[in-house]
Amino acid sequence: MNVFGVDIGGSGIKGAPVDLERGALTEERHKVLTPQPATPDGVAGCVAEVVEHFGWTGPVGVTFPGVVTGSTIRTAANVDRSWIGVDAGTLIGARLGGLPVTVLNDADAAGIAEMTFGAGRGRKGTVILLTLGTGIGSAVFVDGRLVPNTELGHLELKGHDAETRASTKAKEDEDLSWEHWATRRVRKYLAHVEMLFSPELFIIGGGVSRKADRFLPLIEGIRAEIVPAELQNNAGIVGAGMAAAGRAGA
Ligand code: BGC
Repeated sequence: MNVFGVDIGGSGIKGAPVDLERGALTEERHKVLTPQPATPDGVAGCVAEVVEHFGWTGPVGVTFPGVVTGSTIRTAANVDRSWIGVDAGTLIGARLGGLPVTVLNDADAAGIAEMTFGAGRGRKGTVILLTLGTGIGSAVFVDGRLVPNTELGHLELKGHDAETRASTKAKEDEDLSWEHWATRRVRKYLAHVEMLFSPELFIIGGGVSRKADRFLPLIEGIRAEIVPAELQNNAGIVGAGMAAAGRAGA
């Protein structure tokens, strides 16, 4: 079965049809730049552009970088705040001529894809996926079942919002070396999350997972296993497609 997934990010909105048997894109994904400011109408128009690029007319799953309950947006840390309270499923569905739209948090989508097709396949117990990017997203699983909207990127770390210290944006903004970022920022953040949840496994996602060898070996003193995500940039699209097909609770 094929469905369609769209990943809304702070810089790009990308999507493609998804093959649910293989957890892979059936065609090369199409990407448009996220409008600035990233308002609901502007972003919905871009999502429609991506979907229409493929002439898609079936169910569509869409990720959002904030808390999503039902299909209503509740927080918007890194996109325009006018999203808060908007029913994104209805808004985007209307732009797509009434196609059914499922909306979920971006890290939850990536986590669902990784648990089924990637680094978390078959893993029991508590597994936590953390996406390190502009912000920090989290997806918490217990025996493969997701606890949605956990928002562990906003834990307080020494008086700071954790994502302002340990995200890749913090690394870039402060021009931190891999060593400094890994040992003083990411390690401390993981230690804090481990203290709270004692997971068996951490999966590190986001674009930086491609460079895992630059920083994961530097992180010491964490009891849980730490591995990079495997689906990398496509995890969000695949997870969105799975949610659209009602396979998000696997
Ligand atoms: C948001 C999360 C999101 C994460 C990654 C955070 O700032 O609060 O909902 O998953 O960024 O985009």
